[in-house]
Formats: sequence, structure tokens, C-alpha cells
Amino acid sequence: MPDGPAISLEGLSKRFADGPLVLDDISLTASNGEIISIVGPSGCGKSTLLRLIAKLIPATSGEIHHSGNNINPAFIFQDATLLPWANVLENIAVPARLKGISKSKRLDTASKWANVVGLNDVLNYYPRQLSGGMKMRVSIARALSQSPNLLLLDEPFGALDAITRNRLNEDLLRLHDESRWTAFFVTHSVTEAVFLSNRIIIMNNNPGSVAAIIENTLPFPRDCRTRESIEFQQRVAEATARLHQVLSS
Ligand SMILES: Nc1ncnc2c1ncn2[C@@H]1O[C@H](COP(=O)(O)OP(=O)(O)O)[C@@H](O)[C@H]1O
Ligand SMILES: [Mg+2]
Repeated sequence: MPDGPAISLEGLSKRFADGPLVLDDISLTASNGEIISIVGPSGCGKSTLLRLIAKLIPATSGEIHHSGNNINPAFIFQDATLLPWANVLENIAVPARLKGISKSKRLDTASKWANVVGLNDVLNYYPRQLSGGMKMRVSIARALSQSPNLLLLDEPFGALDAITRNRLNEDLLRLHDESRWTAFFVTHSVTEAVFLSNRIIIMNNNPGSVAAIIENTLPFPRDCRTRESIEFQQRVAEATARLHQVLSS
């Protein structure tokens, strides 16, 4: 599979109806298969920006260009939004079901993805029987089973404990290695942003705008040992300082 699309945003602005300007003149580019993190205060328009990038809502002005023929976006949210009456396998297969794919085929694909995200032992469990981390794995499998080339992650791991979050970060990079989707990852954790992404966008409020872009040249592959390295810790400290500097100026 080729790398996910390059995406460029040119002077993107967004206003809902006659409300205030939510996003003002956002310009940035993601290269093919790049992972970009977005950090910024609540209400600065991060979720709105993801929806614009996925072309779910129109921009008020400015343009978005995707390379290649089609974008196939998939979202992952903090709330896994699982159907309570459906088991793990059936939950992963929901998008395929909506597309009218036959039951045997969709459950087959779902079980492959359950395997990839480490859920093989709980295929028949219902959401109430799953931990938060397992629910998030279902959500990831459900998104990836749609073969996205663009992944939009909206604070997906914000409600999880640190160990589970770290594991999912590592798994996400491993999955990215295999499928190379382009990704935008909204997070409040600078540590997570440094671990996952090639670049970190710091956004400002009222209206939402790009305040700074941090290039993160921490080498790949990154795994659990990366967090123990001085280099990683230095980058987290630098990015944190930059965030404070930008948001207090
Ligand atoms: N569908 C909508 N209609 C009107 N206002 C909206 C809509 N979606 C978001 N907004 C407004 O846009 C602003 C940014 O929201 P959002 O993108 O959710 O911010 P963030 O994700 O950074 O917390 C907020 O003031 C919010 O009320
Ligand atoms: Mg949001």
C-alpha cells in the first residue's frame, strides 16, 4: 500500500453560521504518511480542524489539497463509542456492516484486526466486560479495518492510565509502520506528541490559529525504550517549554 496522502491547508478559516471565527488562517502541510500532533487549549478548534481535514465540513475560506485520488479518512475518539449489545467482533465489523459486506466476510476481516490489536482472547466479550484500554483497541481495530489512508485521532488516549496509554502509543507506531496512513493526532500530552509525531503544531485560542510548529527529529523506530533515553526526555522538556512560552505570550 502506498503512503497516505500529502495534505496541504492553505489559509483555512472556519466560522459556524454567524458565530465567531473559530479557526483563522491555518496553513500547514503534512507529507505522505506523516504523523502530526496538535496541541492547544480547549475550544481552540482542534476537533473542528480534524473535521475540516477529513472534508466532513466545509471551510469558510481557504483551501485543502490532498495528493492522490481519494482520501479514505477514519476517526478515533476518546470515547470508543461501542455498541453495548454487540460483542468485540461485531463492534469491529460495524463499518463493514454499514457498507453491506456479507456477514462471513466482515467477521473474517474483523477477526484479523482483533488479532492485530491483541484482542483475540476477548472476541465474544461485550463492551461492559472490557477495560478502557481494550475498548480503545476495539475502536482502533474498527477504524483500521476500513483501510484508511488518513487517520484522525481526537484525544484518543486521554482517559487511559499512563501504562495503557504508552502501550497504545507503541502499538500505534507499529501499525503505522505497516500501513503508513497520514495522521493528525490531537492530544494534551506533550510526551505523547513527542513520542508519536514528526511535527507538533501548537495552536492558540480566539480564534484558533497556528502559534508554532515544532519539528521533532527524534529518530525512528521509537519503542518503549525510547522513553528512557535522555534524548527523548530533552525533547519533551524543550517542547513543554515552547508550549508554555507560546501560550503565555
Ligand atoms: N457545529 C458547531 N456549531 C457551532 N459551533 C461549533 C460547532 N463545532 C464547534 N463549534 C465551536 O467551535 C469552537 C471550537 O470547538 P472545537 O473544535 O470542539 O475545539 P477543541 O476541539 O479545540 O476543544 C468552540 O467554540 C465550539 O463551540
Ligand atoms: Mg476537541
